[in-house]
Amino acid sequence: MNKKITGFVCNACGVQLSKWSGQCPDCGGWNTISETPAFSPPASIKHRAGGYSGIGLSTRAIVQDLADLPVQAESRIPSGIDELDRVLGGGLVPGSVVLIGGDPGIGKSTLLLQACATFADSPAAQTIAPPVLYVSGEESAQQVKLRAHRLGLLQPRIRLLTETCVEHIIAIAIAERPQVLVIDSIQTLFVEELSSAPGSVAQVRESAARLVRYAKNGMTTVFLVGHVTKEGALAGPRVLEHMVDTVLYFEGEPGSAHRLVRAVKNRFGAVNELGVFAMTDKGLRQVTNPSAIFLSRHSSAVSGSAILVTREGTRPLLVEIQALVDESPLANPRRIAVGLDQNRLAMLLAVLHRHGGVAMFGRDVFVNAVGGVRITETAADLALVLAILSSERDCPLPPQLAVFGEIGLSGEIRPVPNGADRLREAAKHGMKQAIVPIANVPKEGVAGLEIHAVGSLRQAMEII
Ligand code: TYD
Ligand code: MG
Repeated sequence: MNKKITGFVCNACGVQLSKWSGQCPDCGGWNTISETPAFSPPASIKHRAGGYSGIGLSTRAIVQDLADLPVQAESRIPSGIDELDRVLGGGLVPGSVVLIGGDPGIGKSTLLLQACATFADSPAAQTIAPPVLYVSGEESAQQVKLRAHRLGLLQPRIRLLTETCVEHIIAIAIAERPQVLVIDSIQTLFVEELSSAPGSVAQVRESAARLVRYAKNGMTTVFLVGHVTKEGALAGPRVLEHMVDTVLYFEGEPGSAHRLVRAVKNRFGAVNELGVFAMTDKGLRQVTNPSAIFLSRHSSAVSGSAILVTREGTRPLLVEIQALVDESPLANPRRIAVGLDQNRLAMLLAVLHRHGGVAMFGRDVFVNAVGGVRITETAADLALVLAILSSERDCPLPPQLAVFGEIGLSGEIRPVPNGADRLREAAKHGMKQAIVPIANVPKEGVAGLEIHAVGSLRQAMEII
């Protein structure tokens, strides 16, 4: 017999404790601590699993030489939606768990329903097992059916279950043996053994832990939908992000039809990959040429705008960077960055002052990356500074000019990775000129693009 070891967990911050107390010693929250079955011993997994068809469960783990292990070809199953596959690092990995987070109503259920339907129709899913088991804890079977109907998915080979008890879900999944299991959403699930309410940290964590175990043992790909709190973090503790293999965020600007799927953690691929979709009346449509939506295509040249060639994951992307410099009524002028790093902006303004001789004292500086994209790479520096200069002088940059390059503290322009790729992307979108770091200029040049190589901020300023 296994004696159940119990512990306590704070529902606000997720910290594990050995005894109950009224106030959490970690986050200071009152009345947030509840009981949890902590660290279930492995034997109980075997007991609970029952029908895991014994994949490696009855044998004890042994120590092996890493060198002697055979290399197994990484199996990837395409979901049929290219933008999703790219973010996942090439397709679904059997036995992996993917967490998709996003604001309510952003389109998580829509995306997963569409992905499930295309996956079920793909050649990869024509084996004996049912391709997909879709577990809806939020919507009734009728609501899911109506949505599928609206999306034009007429006869999707999707098995549907409306259930919120994790024990039942896993028992049914073991019987059904689907290739893909979707849980919509993890916050609605509960484990019978726990007394806390569904959505509490203890419930979310334990539910996820059991589903992760199920995925690993049954080689099923599990998608967990997770809600995002007002602060933008995934509701539930950070441990949820540690438990799963891949964390995707589904984002979109309010009022915009565009949706971005971003990988923030991926054990099977690159992070910061970006998948771009547009929400239409027929569900989500893939945007295969996303550069088009991040450029605002002014009819005439405007000041304060520069076109940056950035990279999201493995893909070059053209994004318009906008800046506005204005007299400030405040003693402490504002430096506001939307989609760009605020500290980086402050640093670049200092470099611009010291090495470019342009001071911004007494002026507000606002910068923005068009289309709701978030840019974290330093290759945006040069475009940012040129946009600021353009706004400050109220003088538009030359039309069809693309820019990238990192700026160092001594005003030097440093090379960035994959310069040639970026230049080709710029040429593809009709750019005629480019200002880039010297080391990023390809020897053979790029057809249709006049390239200005710069080594310092001064040189870049002279060109414009
Ligand atoms: P949904 O997938 O339910 O969001 P989530 O699961 O993330 O909460 O998306 C709902 C929103 O998407 C809703 O506001 C309506 C919109 N929508 C469309 O615009 N077109 C469609 O075809 C569908 C199904 C939804
Ligand atoms: Mg939903």
